[in-house]
Order: sequence, then structure tokens, then C-alpha cells
Amino acid sequence: MPVTQHYEGQSRLESLGRLSTKHDRHQRHDSLLSYRANSRTTSRSSSTESTHRCTVRTYDNRFSERVAAFRDREYPQLNGTNLAQLIIVIVLAHMSQAEFISTPGARWSVCIEESLYAKSLVRVYAADLIGNLYGNPHSENTPAAAAGQRVEQVREKALRFFNADPKEWDLIFTANATASIKLVGECMHDYATSNNTPLWYGFHRDAHTSLVGVREMASNHRCFTSDAQVEDWINGRGIGGAEPGQLGLFAFPGQSNMTGRRLPLAWCGRIRRNVYKAPVYTLLDAAALASTAELDLSDPTTTPDFVALSFYKIFGMPDIGALIVHKAAKHVLMKRRFFGGGTVDVVVAVDGSWHTGKETLHDRLEAGTLPFHEIIALGHAIDVHDRLYGPDPMKFISNHTSRLGKLVFDGLSTLRHSNGEPMVEIYNESGTVYGDSSRQGATIAFSVRDVSGQLVTHKDVEVAANREGIFVRSGSLCNPGGMATYLKWQGDDLRRAHAAGYRCGNVEMQTVYGKATGVVRVSIGPMNTAADIHAFIDFIERHYFDHQPIRQPSPPMLLKDNDREAHSIRAVTHPTKDTRPISSRRPIGATKPIDDRQRWAGDWEMALAIRTHLQAAAQKP
Ligand SMILES: Cc1ncc(COP(=O)(O)O)c(C=O)c1O
Repeated sequence: MPVTQHYEGQSRLESLGRLSTKHDRHQRHDSLLSYRANSRTTSRSSSTESTHRCTVRTYDNRFSERVAAFRDREYPQLNGTNLAQLIIVIVLAHMSQAEFISTPGARWSVCIEESLYAKSLVRVYAADLIGNLYGNPHSENTPAAAAGQRVEQVREKALRFFNADPKEWDLIFTANATASIKLVGECMHDYATSNNTPLWYGFHRDAHTSLVGVREMASNHRCFTSDAQVEDWINGRGIGGAEPGQLGLFAFPGQSNMTGRRLPLAWCGRIRRNVYKAPVYTLLDAAALASTAELDLSDPTTTPDFVALSFYKIFGMPDIGALIVHKAAKHVLMKRRFFGGGTVDVVVAVDGSWHTGKETLHDRLEAGTLPFHEIIALGHAIDVHDRLYGPDPMKFISNHTSRLGKLVFDGLSTLRHSNGEPMVEIYNESGTVYGDSSRQGATIAFSVRDVSGQLVTHKDVEVAANREGIFVRSGSLCNPGGMATYLKWQGDDLRRAHAAGYRCGNVEMQTVYGKATGVVRVSIGPMNTAADIHAFIDFIERHYFDHQPIRQPSPPMLLKDNDREAHSIRAVTHPTKDTRPISSRRPIGATKPIDDRQRWAGDWEMALAIRTHLQAAAQKP
């Protein structure tokens, strides 16, 4: 008799037809795709039924229904918002955390990004820790052995979660994706040095800051500014990359954390086969990709040598990451020079300097005490994901979030002011197809435009959304290539802006030289539903429909600089959604205004005071 695994929301779906084998369940997922229902008629959010002027196209609501079946119970953190059942999982880059952290009785939820931990995960984890005694696995006693055993079980379980055969792959637990990326960079550097070989590093423009930073460990590097450049390099068998006698590393994100674009994983296999001027290893930054996509490491034609990721992005917790390594590339990492507690078999410290490292890759690289409580939590997180989202949880989540991403795109892109001008500018590559999970994730970056086409600054959108319990992320998102590409920042401009006082995450500088310093980003998580999306679109429309241009006061004269426009910033804040925004210009850097000084200073201070007030108000129950 076949064993049928029961999972949350199953009964609702099973009424569509009894399907029990994995194959059948996949077919059921596919058959769901053909079912189309206008979600506006099924949305449970009353706020969304009122004012939509945008055209939201058809949406397969059954994915959302299945999540809705357990959401209130499993994600009670989402119930405290002032719009019932509302939350868009999105956070603001570099913004003070205090804006989001909930206090007892506060009406806001804790901010979340991509995924949120389920209640049953916290419960089962707590019960495990309370019911068992675990100790530092570096010891030999019973609690230590229990922890050590669990760590190894979870290591294997995590590999299998990504379809990675433990015979071929190893997994090193790290603090986060950034630590995994840094580890590869350090090891490659040490490997190159030990062979007296220069290290060449290539990375794609869509890279997260953490991937860009690896260039500092290389002798020379190249930023590939388009897919076409990568294609040319691969098809040209490595021309424009590592030279003979060098060692190479090529890194790219599986998904842009800014636009949600998914990059071709097939590059990895093709680089291995085609690029032979020098040995080039591949590093896939799967931090954004793995949260809502199936990362399948079973196909050797697409698999990278190294994969970096963060587990909290997939399951909401635990806050640890991993570096997954194909064992064929293990020798590169074994050359790491640094050693620490647990990574060596013998060390001579006093009358010489000799040591011998552990033989197993993860033992060699996991220096210091492992975060074993977190690793135990990871084992539970994988189980809970299976129970909530089905036997193939990432396939379900990929389908579900991909559809919601399309819903966001359709909703935002059809919003218009009364003069017909678009309310929202979405940042993406031409030809982007939302809803196609092979090429686009459920992340959308955009700016809001007022009725005259002027930018509504990103932080103000975030603050306004936050007041309604909608948590969006804004800023430059640690994506310098995206900022350069979509906000048209050039290197020299950024250097001048920095000299003038601009800092990444500086909430007061939302525009410099008339250019935005950030975007707003929506990043859908597994527990989001169509009702969330409608509420979000509804918020944008209610708040910004026919939004008036910001009054520009005459800029102050500057003592030391004639270029007033180039050295001023605009600060805007919206006291409430019904009142006109307050705007001010002030010089930055060492200059001082010599006329309009009092009015300018007053505006500026008032803007800051109101913002502070808004933040404080948002924390109140
Ligand atoms: C694509 C990408 N890479 C790297 C990171 C860094 O991840 P972590 O903060 O876990 O180090 C992120 C974080 O959002 C990301 O989206």
C-alpha cells in the first residue's frame, strides 16, 4: 500500500481529485496552473475590494488558498497588523531596525524578509531543546556526542534538501551567505598563493555587495556588465578572463536580490567545458534564489563548484548559512592557511610552527564551536517546510511565489494617474517574463512617481507602507551594479556623492544630484497570499494616485561651491497620507547657506522631527 504523506492544506486540494504518488502530486501542481480564477472575487481582504483602478489579471488562487489554510495558525506574527491578514514581506535596506521591531502590544509585526519561521517550528525546536541535553560537539561526553550526531544528520539532510548526493557534495556550516562567499575567496586566494599563481576573479553585474567584495582578494578582476559579455567569454573559450598560468573564479547570483531576475545556472557547466585558458571555478550565490526556488544540485551540467546560501532566507530561521562544495573542487578549499579550533589534527605552537589539518573538508573549514543549536533547528525547519508546503516544498513555493510575483507586476504596472501617466516605474531587463520561475523570482524593484512624473522617494514609500503594516524594503539593497544600471549612477558620481556626504543607507539622502539613491523592493515569501498583494497594490494606489509634485523651495546659496544643485540633497517626508509632503533642500559637505538660511534650516529640522515622530508613532500600540 503506498504511503501517503499528509501535509497542510491537503484536504482542500485533495477535493480537486485524490492524488497520492509524488508523480501525481506534481501533475496536480501542473493542473492547478490551468485553473484560472479572478482572485478579486475570492480575496479575503475587504480593503482590496474597494478602489482598485488597476487591472489585475487572472490569478490561480488555489496556491494562496492552501497557504491561507494554515497561515493564521502557523504565522501568528502576521496577525497583529492593523490590516487583518495583511503583510507583504519586504524590508528596508539599511534602515534602523528599530523601525520594525515589535514591542509587546505593538500593532506592528516584526519585520521579515522573504520567509518567516512557522510557529510549529519554534514549538518543535523548543520541545527538542527542553527534552534533550546537547553539548558542544567538540567534546566526547554524552550530550556532546548527541549534538555531534545531530549535526551530521542535519548536514546530510540539508544536502538532500538540495538534491545534493552527500557522496559528491560536502556542506560547511557558516554564519550566513556572506561568510560562505568570503570563505571561498580566502581559500582561492590561499590556493593561488600556494601555487604561486595570480588569482583572476570575474563577477556578474547583478552581484550582491558580498560577491563584489571578493575582488579585493584577487590579483585582477572583471565585472561582466551583461549576460552577453558572459556568453562571449564562455563562447570565446575564456578570452577576456583568466590568462594561462592564472587561477580563476567566476561568481554570479542565482537571482538578483534587486530585480529578482534569475541568471542562467547552465553557465557553470559551460564554463567547466568551454573555458580552458586557465582553470576557472564557479561560485553560485544562491542566497536570494534558494529562498523561493528549487535549487537542484543533481544535474552535473548546471551545478557550480561552490554554492553560498543562508538558511534563514528559506525557513525564516535558523540564522545560519552554508557553503556547499562539489567534492571535485574540494582541493582548492583544503589549502586554506588559517586554522582554528577543531580544524587541525596536530599543532606545534611552542618550539616550531607545524600543523596538520583535518582530512574531511567540513572539519577542515568549520573553525571554532559549531552553532549546534541552530543546526538542530535547521533539521526541524526542513521537516516543518515539508509538512506545511508539501512533499516537494520548494516546487510548491516556487510556483506559488512566482504567481504572486506576477500579480504584483500586473498590479503595479497597470496603475495610472488620472492623466494616464504610470504611477510606478518597475526596474527590470527588457524581455522579463513575470510568472516564469526559470527566469524571474518573486522580487520586484520599483519607484513610485507622482502625477507630474517626479520621483516619490523610496524611504517615504517605505515609511508610509510601514504605517499600514506593510513592510517593504527600500534603499540601494546592497546591489551596487543594480544601482548603477537602473538608477544610472556612474562611478565618478558616486565618489563625488560620497565626498559630499552620501553614505549607503543614509536615510536623509534619498536623492543626490537629482538621482534616487534607492528603490522600493517587494520580495514575496512562501507565506504570502494573493490578499497581501491586493492590499499592497491597493495601498500604493490609495496613497499615491494623483500624488502632487513636491514643492521645490529656492535652493540656498553656498559659501564654497557654485554648483548648488550638484551639492544639495532633497529631504521629503509625509506627515500623513492626507497632508502635503514637506520638502526642503540643504547643502551637504562643508558648505553653509548664506540666504534663506533660517527657512531652509527650519524646513529641514521640521522634516526630521516629523519623521522621528512618525517612527515613534509607528511603535505605539
Ligand atoms: C543575492 C544575495 N547574496 C548575498 C546576500 C547576503 O546574505 P547574508 O546576509 O545571509 O550574508 C544576500 C542578502 O540578502 C542576497 O540577497
